[in-house]
Amino acid sequence: MKHHDPVRSFLFTIPALTILACDPTDSEPGEDSTTHEAERALDVADPQAAARGDDEDPPLTPAEEAAEAEADEARLDGPDGVFLDPALHPVVGKPPSPGPDKDLLVAMVGDMGSGSKPKAVYQLILDEQADFALITGDFDYKDSPSTFQKEMTAVLGADYPAFPVIGNHDKSKWSQYQADFKARLAKIPGAVCTGDLGVDASCTYRGLHFVLSGVGTIGSKAKHEDYIAAALAADNSPWSLCVWHKNMRDLQAGDKPDEAGWPAFKHCQDAGAIVVMGHEHSYARTRTLTDIGNSAEGHGAIGMPDLLEVAPGKTFTVVSGLGGKSIRSWDSGIHKSDTWWGTLYTSNYYRKNGVDMKKTSADEGALFMRFNVGGDPSAAEGYFKTVNGEIIDEFDIVRK
Ligand SMILES: [Fe+2]
Repeated sequence: MKHHDPVRSFLFTIPALTILACDPTDSEPGEDSTTHEAERALDVADPQAAARGDDEDPPLTPAEEAAEAEADEARLDGPDGVFLDPALHPVVGKPPSPGPDKDLLVAMVGDMGSGSKPKAVYQLILDEQADFALITGDFDYKDSPSTFQKEMTAVLGADYPAFPVIGNHDKSKWSQYQADFKARLAKIPGAVCTGDLGVDASCTYRGLHFVLSGVGTIGSKAKHEDYIAAALAADNSPWSLCVWHKNMRDLQAGDKPDEAGWPAFKHCQDAGAIVVMGHEHSYARTRTLTDIGNSAEGHGAIGMPDLLEVAPGKTFTVVSGLGGKSIRSWDSGIHKSDTWWGTLYTSNYYRKNGVDMKKTSADEGALFMRFNVGGDPSAAEGYFKTVNGEIIDEFDIVRK
């Protein structure tokens, strides 16, 4: 078995950009309802899958886990970009960054699915005039890279800047998903990533730094953790994000298990980097956390629900998983004693900035964060908006 080389890196910086208009002829009438009927039928036909939830991996025996780990390593060893000499293009040593462009707006959402629902989310991203999107994993759930790119392109255009992380439903066709995202990003001037796009990558675009990780989803957790720590230590940007798909049970609203591991979160907290996830199909955003992983102490949550602080040792986490696949519920049995939430938005429960709201259903939508607000490099703000135009969450972020 070959071994993944963590110092291997690629760099892409492409100067030309053309924004393509939406092609309304690209949609296929009738496709959406058929698709969802088929998905519902599958759920019913597999009661175990239904019991696990539509985003769960089946439980594996130790032998199956070992085989999957070996298969993961083989996937990650595949050709995945233009590799430059790491001695000339090391991960470390980036120059200081002036920070994000004034009022830079970034959309963050995952767990998309296919058909009319994810298309409505793409339309929302377009309507909000987000400068780019971070797709937090689990694309079309059909192992169909062409379907996923076709639907995204039909709304956002072929040259819209979208950066991925790998989700558990993207693993078997990852090489094609990744190649498609690389082709998309190759058209974007100023999009610079080192590493393995969507798996272990350190990117800067429009002055915002973000680390894209497969931690908990694919490959060795320890390697991902080392990469995250190194990528954050090497970057001097005033704002960084840590983006991956999988969760820890305490930091999502449903019943997803501990999979990402606490060390990755701790590295991001140490650096004051905001953690953005997908996987659970709801929206869940914490208050400022100062001791992530210490559940008994409420993960060190401090401050007001709608005023977040990021600094070395302080950050917050958010799950944005209402991209269209489905909408899941708040698990009150698991989370009844949680003290660290700012806003929760699920199929059966909505709390906005610490206040229970009278609403028992939810819609698809996306999280948006605006950086360098009004030209203040220490100010950012966030909001979650549904495809129906409802603002579900609003918060300010101060960087110290
Ligand atoms: Fe997932």
